[in-house]
Amino acid sequence: MAVCVSMINMKGGVGKTTLASQIAWYAAVQLDKRVLLIDLDPQANASQSVMSPQTYVSYLDRGGLTVADILEQFTPTGTASGSPKKLDPAKVIFPRVNYDDGSLLHIVPSRLELSWTLRNPTEKETLLPRFVAKVEKGYDLIIIDCSPTDSILTDAAYHCSRYILVPIRAEFLAAIGFPLLNRSINAFQMRHEDKVIEVCGLVFNDFTRGNVKSENKIARKAVMDEAKKYGWYVFNHDIPHSDSYFKAARDGMPIASTKGAHGKVKGEFAAFANEFFPRIGL
Ligand SMILES: Nc1ncnc2c1ncn2[C@@H]1O[C@H](COP(=O)(O)OP(=O)(O)OP(=O)(O)O)[C@@H](O)[C@H]1O
Ligand SMILES: [Mg+2]
Repeated sequence: MAVCVSMINMKGGVGKTTLASQIAWYAAVQLDKRVLLIDLDPQANASQSVMSPQTYVSYLDRGGLTVADILEQFTPTGTASGSPKKLDPAKVIFPRVNYDDGSLLHIVPSRLELSWTLRNPTEKETLLPRFVAKVEKGYDLIIIDCSPTDSILTDAAYHCSRYILVPIRAEFLAAIGFPLLNRSINAFQMRHEDKVIEVCGLVFNDFTRGNVKSENKIARKAVMDEAKKYGWYVFNHDIPHSDSYFKAARDGMPIASTKGAHGKVKGEFAAFANEFFPRIGL
């Protein structure tokens, strides 16, 4: 059975998508794990990055199915692709890498129309876990990239997840969303007592190397103090700032294979990965 991790922080632009893609690549290429990345954000940044913008657009043009079809499969008016009809789970999965060497990275793409689900969310949060239950035996790791708002989509992610990974920036108000996240997880757990979800950790992303500014130090301390309150682990290994992450996202590449990426940057990501994967039992 696959272990499922959701990338959640109600603060935007903290690196959820960047790290979701890089963790997926690392697990698939470096660790030879079978990985499914589910893009649960209507912005579809993970889809465009991992598939490449051109492939993503032509996939949609060809009528390729997305996570919106999973959530709207029983919507009679058919907000997605001519619903309602029985959805073949294999048709929602795009094989990004499927080599003989064992690297396997598949993606369930998203699309902007996923935001329609938010307008009429009734009982739709169970459709994603139903999909995951059908496909998970084919994977070791499922990563869900979430949007920065707490919604029915977050509940759908909680339903599927064993762990939550929280990327953060060491900046002013970095911890402002922690009480909301804690409340959101607790509210879900109270409604679903059989389900165990755990924050596997907070990771500082896009951190300035070298001369750390005093405001970053203050922000870091505030995050550490807040994390302690909730009993959340903070990863010892940060992901420092590097323009190579932008290049990796643009080229749809693991950071280890990104042209021009410094050995130090690759090493820093690997150090985080070595701390992260054992925490989720991989
Ligand atoms: N370690 C890093 N070094 C340099 N740039 C980074 C790093 N991490 C993320 N970025 C850049 O920061 C921006 C925001 O990152 P990303 O899209 O991953 O955040 P997000 O949390 O998914 O945002 P949203 O909340 O909108 O979904 C992107 O342009 C990304 O390339
Ligand atoms: Mg994102």
